[in-house]
Amino acid sequence: MSTISIIFTALFYISLFIFIVGMGRKIYQFSTTPVPLKIPTAPTPLTQTGVVFRMIREVTLFESLFRSNKWIWLFGFLFHFGLLLVLVRHLRYFIPGDLPEIFLLIQPFKYAAFAMVIGLGGLLVRRIFVSRIRYISAPSDYLMLLMLIIIGVSGVVMTFTDNHTDVMMVKSFATGLVTFDWVNLPTETHFLVHLFLVFVLLAIFPISKLLHVPGIFFSPTLNQVDNARKKRHISPWALKQEKENTVKLDQTLGKDE
Ligand code: HEM
Ligand code: HEM
Repeated sequence: MSTISIIFTALFYISLFIFIVGMGRKIYQFSTTPVPLKIPTAPTPLTQTGVVFRMIREVTLFESLFRSNKWIWLFGFLFHFGLLLVLVRHLRYFIPGDLPEIFLLIQPFKYAAFAMVIGLGGLLVRRIFVSRIRYISAPSDYLMLLMLIIIGVSGVVMTFTDNHTDVMMVKSFATGLVTFDWVNLPTETHFLVHLFLVFVLLAIFPISKLLHVPGIFFSPTLNQVDNARKKRHISPWALKQEKENTVKLDQTLGKDE
């Protein structure tokens, strides 16, 4: 194997390891953080089923973003939806052997690359030109957008211009990563940049704003049932106190005799 292939193979496993361990730790931290107050945002679901539907609408349609700002929603939705279709299309690299026929049908998903890049462009323009947003933007906000734009544009270059890469070689390389049967990868610069930034993104996922992916499911304003007036809530320490009080009361009333 060539040196560059060995480096990229190693980088894949290193970034995947950081991603899995980092995400595992973060998800554990999110799930064990106390949530002492009822704070669902209105309009609030009154049942658990209602919460599930709210979460589905939030994740698939970005409902609350739509209510707050139509422009950000448009660009945010274009980017995320485009990304989803692009990632589905990328599965063909990682599935060993012949592909299921469904992949012929999803060939047009390649155009989703434009939705993704246009969405990202809109979000970047907003960060640069809306002074209120510029004021609260940190370097990492720009970094995320720029990295995703470079990944998207290098992908578009490979798919839609004459600067193709050898996709069969990419498939052997990617399935090789899954089956531990390592082979060389194509070495065109734009492909290597594409892949390198994907690995960087994977590695910084657990320490970046990309944590909004698992985070949204733990958001108390979105995942709580508004039943504070229907159900009596007693926190564990209060329950202990209440039991002690009942015993004291029983003793006072002479019930334990
Ligand atoms: C469950 C899946 C996901 C959901 C529900 C989701 C939802 C959202 C929402 C609501 C925003 C806020 C937009 C705003 O108010 O500015 C956002 C921003 C963002 N998302 Fe996601 N996202 C998901 C997955 C992803 C993934 C997989 C990536 C990238 C690999 C990603 C990258 C970003 C970036 C970079 C921003 C910031 C855009 C900006 O600069 O304004 N998201 N996401
Ligand atoms: C190990 C992971 C990845 C590999 C091996 C890979 C490889 C490739 C290759 C070879 C192409 C060109 C396809 C062609 O010529 O038909 C491509 C296109 C593209 N890639 Fe990736 N990529 C990876 C991950 C990603 C990720 C995570 C994103 C998004 C954040 C992305 C975004 C794109 C886009 C937008 C295109 C153009 C549209 C398309 O062909 O579907 N890639 N990728």
